[in-house]
Parts: sequence; structure tokens; C-alpha cells
Amino acid sequence: MSDDRGIAEAVERLRAGGLVAFPTETVYGLGADARNVEAIGRIYALKGRPPGHPLIVHLASADELGDWAAEVPAAARRLAERFWPGPLTLILPCSPSVAAALRGGQPSIGLRVPSHPVAQRLLRAFGGGIAAPSANRYGRVSPTTAQHVRDEFGADAPLVLDGGDCSVGLESTIVSCLDELLLLRPGGVPATELEAVVGPLRRASQGEGPRAPGTTLAHYAPSTPLRLVAPAAVDAGVDAMSAVLARGPRPLAYAGPLWIDAGSDPVRYGHDLYANLRRLDRAGARSIIVESVPGEPAWEAVRDRLARSAAACPAEEMA
Ligand code: TXA
Ligand code: MG
Repeated sequence: MSDDRGIAEAVERLRAGGLVAFPTETVYGLGADARNVEAIGRIYALKGRPPGHPLIVHLASADELGDWAAEVPAAARRLAERFWPGPLTLILPCSPSVAAALRGGQPSIGLRVPSHPVAQRLLRAFGGGIAAPSANRYGRVSPTTAQHVRDEFGADAPLVLDGGDCSVGLESTIVSCLDELLLLRPGGVPATELEAVVGPLRRASQGEGPRAPGTTLAHYAPSTPLRLVAPAAVDAGVDAMSAVLARGPRPLAYAGPLWIDAGSDPVRYGHDLYANLRRLDRAGARSIIVESVPGEPAWEAVRDRLARSAAACPAEEMA
């Protein structure tokens, strides 16, 4: 339901202060009119997200930056020119007209121009900014299909525009462009591509920068305890009660409920990651074992999400 009628109904709901889930190239977003404080409150309520965690505002094009940002530093402009529309979020000094609820009390605002055609059509038809976090309950795995959103919220699910499977499958890369350029979250645009445009980017250390859900250590968690294991230790760590996310074929001796070979291509692996975590979570296993991934730059966003998923399940719970 993302034809003209679907878009028209979504716009009507947004104008009335309601919520609409919509596809982006990264993950599905849970959207509201970014100028409507009550509508923004509904996002926090449905997600169960603590107040004080800022939302990203989605725009149809960089031409609308001036409505939201007080200032656009030259480096931010270069990144926007090169990577928008696309999976990049820029944190910029905030225009005073922006509601505090939206920016979690920060003096800054997160802005992104998504490339997904349904997101683009929705934004253009709506004619304003749409605030949207990932359309999952707080701390859980992000949705990459319309069905994931429906599964996530059940009877409470808002209208969902179905744009198919998200092509990137991991959230946007977030770069803070305030006093210095800072990589807050690795994501859909590899940091090496950003660095080719603006030079070396410092990585935010844990706890640095504003409080932000995707940057808290424990996040993106399935309900089944998940453990990250070095490749050489996978076979020894697996038993008949564990479901496995590996990067190689299922060994003959494996007798557990689900073995996924996610392959060795980081883009493909990232695209499939959240759907795979949902499948593993439903496998009826006592634990999920994930084979750790290479240390190369191309795996940075995947490594980040796996580390956070694992951190949400302290090892003691694994017994
Ligand atoms: O790919 C994405 O970015 C998806 C799609 C829907 O656009 N959205 C997404 O939103 O991942 P969310 O809310 O799940 O994660 C957004 C991250 C959070 O860590 C949030 O705190 C951070 O962006 N953020 C937003 N505004 C910020 C600000 N002013 N300063 C620092 N971080 C900010
Ligand atoms: Mg999220």
C-alpha cells in the first residue's frame, strides 16, 4: 500500500497529527509531522522511547535545510551534496524554531534526505519535515520490511506504507558537524567514503556526544540471548540448543534449530542482518551464537550493530 491512494492517506494522517510507518533505503521509519509537538509525543509513546533521545528529521531535499538548521558548515554541505539523497544523517546547529521535544533538548538537529522512492513521494506530498526513528520498540531490532513493522507493534501498528525490502538494511551513518566532524554512528555510507570527501573522521567514544539510542552500548537486541564468538570457537560454542549466524556452511555435526550462512560480503551481510536476527529469534533456541566478523573498514557498521546486540545480553544470562 504505497500507491497514490496510500500516499494520500498517509499525508492525511500526518496532517492530523497521526503516525505513519514508511520505508527508507536503510530501515522503516515511524514518522510524524516534525512541526507537531503532540505527534512527536506519539512516536515516543508508541516506541516506548525515553524522552530526551532526539529524532532525525527527514526532508525531501537539501533545499529545505534552512528551515531546520541554523547554520550549515562547509564540510556538511559537501557531504550533503555528495551523499544526499542517501543513508547519511548530518547533525547540525538547530534553528530556534525547532521544538525541543524533537531534538531531545539538544542545541542541534539530525537531518537526512532519504533516497527510497516511497519516502521521497511521501515527503514531497506532505510538503514538510517528517520526524522518524526506526519503526521498532525501544532497544529492539530495526525493521527492514513492512511485515517487520506490523510484527513489532501488533494491534498498535500505525498505517504502514509498504515499499518492500530496504535496500541497505542498516541505519544511516550519522556525522556530527558541530565544533568538529565526528562519526557518531557507522551505517549505510561507509566511513571511508565520507573520509574521501572531508578527510579523516574521529569516531565518537562510548558516552561521548549527546545521549542517543543507537549509540547506547546495548541496543538492536533480539529477545534470545546473543553471544559473539570468534570464528575458530564457533564449533566448540554451539550445541543443539543454539541458533547460529555464521559466515560459512552448516557443519554436518550441527543438530540445532537454525544455522544461517550469511556469507562473506559485508554489504549483503548488512542488508540481511536484521531479518536474520529476527529469524534466529523465532527459531526456539536457548541462545544465538554469532560468528564475529572481520576487522576491515567495510564491516564497521555490521561490527557496531553486532557488538550492541551482544552487549544487550550479558554473558551471565547465557547459562
Ligand atoms: O537510517 C536511519 O537513520 C533511520 C531511518 C528511519 O531514517 N532512523 C533511525 O532513527 O535510525 P533512530 O531514532 O532509531 O536513530 C537515530 C539516531 C539516534 O541515535 C539519535 O539519538 C541520533 O540519531 N540523533 C538524532 N538527532 C540527534 C542530535 N541532534 N544529536 C545527536 N544525535 C542525534
Ligand atoms: Mg533505532
